[in-house]
Amino acid sequence: MSAELKERAARAALEVVESGMRLGIGTGSTAEPFIRALADKVLAGMRVIGVPTSQRSAKLCAELGIPLSTLEETPELDLTVDGADEIDPQLRLIKGGGGSLLREKIVAAASARMVVIADISKKVETLGAFPLPIEVDQFGLGATRRAVEKAASGLGLSGEIVLRQRSDKVFVTDGGHYILDASFGRIPDPEGLSCALHEIPGVVEHGLFIGLARQAFIASSDGVEAIVS
Ligand code: 5RP
Repeated sequence: MSAELKERAARAALEVVESGMRLGIGTGSTAEPFIRALADKVLAGMRVIGVPTSQRSAKLCAELGIPLSTLEETPELDLTVDGADEIDPQLRLIKGGGGSLLREKIVAAASARMVVIADISKKVETLGAFPLPIEVDQFGLGATRRAVEKAASGLGLSGEIVLRQRSDKVFVTDGGHYILDASFGRIPDPEGLSCALHEIPGVVEHGLFIGLARQAFIASSDGVEAIVS
């Protein structure tokens, strides 16, 4: 069912893609059906140039014949379509479950508009049930983790902060960084936490996306809800 809902959200987002657009292309199990549906359109004659947010999405796009560019060649994009781990009523997001948050945020910020695609399980009243991914430099990991704890504590937040591992190995992002997953629970002030995390030198980026998403297509068994911020 979840796969079907992701597919529906992905297809709804395709409706806002126009020929000639420069597109940011997201990462994850919801972005993938979007990439496949986009590839069908390209095959049928739609002209787009895609800037992928991860090596994984770049590989899929290339396999499916979607023309690709980079932010060096194409520094301004018309639209980014990407998934999310949580979406609140103001379209603030937690992203980074797939580990691509830094590139996803750079690409979204370079886009005139970001559209989020998700199934209904991602819609929340308050962000934070999903552990917040924080991308950090490998150097000084212990000190950075301590600084994150202190910054969170200053905002009344606490919880386990774990170094992300996959298949018994430390997970390394496309940019060569580590990820700390912070289980703070409810985050009542995402803007405050975002600022506090940005103050920490070892933090490269965090998964709170604030003021970036303009629209979300959220699929449930009742249909696809379009939310605009
Ligand atoms: C990757 C992301 C993904 O968009 C997010 O994790 C949602 O993934 P999925 O669509 O597989 O649930 O932020 O870094």
